[in-house]
Amino acid sequence: VAGALADTHGRVATDLRVSLTDRCNLRCQYCMPAEGLDWMPTEQTLTDDEVVRLVSIAVERLGVTDVRFTGGEPLLRRGLPGIVAATKALSGSPTVSLTSNGMGLKRTAGALAEAGLDRVNISLDTVRPESFREITRRDRLHDVIDGLAAAQAAGLAPVKVNAVLMRGINDDEAPELLGWCLERGYQLRFIEQMPLDAQHGWDREAMITADEIFERLAPAYDLAPADRSRGSAPAEEFLVDGGPQTVGIIASVTRPFCGDCDRVRLTADGQVRNCLFAREESDLRTAMRAGADDAEIAERWQAAMITKLPGHGIDDAGFLQPVRPMSAIGG
Ligand code: GTP
Ligand code: 5AD
Ligand code: SF4
Repeated sequence: VAGALADTHGRVATDLRVSLTDRCNLRCQYCMPAEGLDWMPTEQTLTDDEVVRLVSIAVERLGVTDVRFTGGEPLLRRGLPGIVAATKALSGSPTVSLTSNGMGLKRTAGALAEAGLDRVNISLDTVRPESFREITRRDRLHDVIDGLAAAQAAGLAPVKVNAVLMRGINDDEAPELLGWCLERGYQLRFIEQMPLDAQHGWDREAMITADEIFERLAPAYDLAPADRSRGSAPAEEFLVDGGPQTVGIIASVTRPFCGDCDRVRLTADGQVRNCLFAREESDLRTAMRAGADDAEIAERWQAAMITKLPGHGIDDAGFLQPVRPMSAIGG
């Protein structure tokens, strides 16, 4: 490895999250408005070859060992299996994973597994059709359920499920969702909602906290901290009823894990974001299209890490939500 993606707070990024599109076929309330957003212009969006080139620089020159493709909804990219295959073929053979809403996985899980995809995390906040329709503004629960089953059948294990609880909408469904996932062997994680929605509707007081999630599960399940080391993983894991199955809680807001962060992000328009909450980005697309060679791009990428803040600062006075919304960052 020629260099590493080190910041000025002693952290080194080895986990790259690549957003492949800002578009989505759902409209989750905690993410975007019902009418959608002004999507990124096609000419600004990296081509499949450009994505693979940047990923290859990260993996082969900058020490990245784990690559996750996100969106918007990454399955909307026709070229996804090819991008996965090209990533898996890089020297060092990185772990390749996907964060998706699961719609369309029924059709593509097999091809993705064949292309070398290791595992998937699927967003699913409810198993009640009415709640699903209310949260995502689409009546497609069955598609996501089929997608999860297809992922498991294709061996994309462990299949993880991400759930955001919203007060007054699905916050009474935590034990039900956990039971559903346990029965099927999916690893459920509950996520504290972060101020990244395009509508800027996030409300600290309305947010369901990790403590509340725990309180809602505790009457139904015996939860004990799993003693495996967490490392830089966002989720705190708990053994359910003595294990071996677990449930996770991602407490980004009330128990931030920024000090152990090993992540760096690349947006669909080729900007490096050194943090979900970064105030500045670094434009690799323009450099690449102007003819920069791999070494030059690697150097720019390393320089982009210098401004990485020590923490997200959500609870700081004067906190400002980043301009780029969740759907264009990829979570
Ligand atoms: P695993 O490797 O399977 O643990 O993936 P993950 O949980 O990191 O990724 P996923 O895409 O499933 O994201 C789950 C939740 O964690 C989402 O709400 C993400 O926004 C959040 N998340 C992922 N990375 C970070 C991060 O660096 N900081 C914070 N605060 N949240 C993150
Ligand atoms: N806060 C926390 N998590 C979010 N996600 C989407 N929007 C938010 C938000 N505002 C989750 C999705 C997906 C993951 C990438 O991020 O549920 O699983
Ligand atoms: Fe789409 Fe994910 Fe945003 Fe939901 S959270 S609208 S699935 S990008």
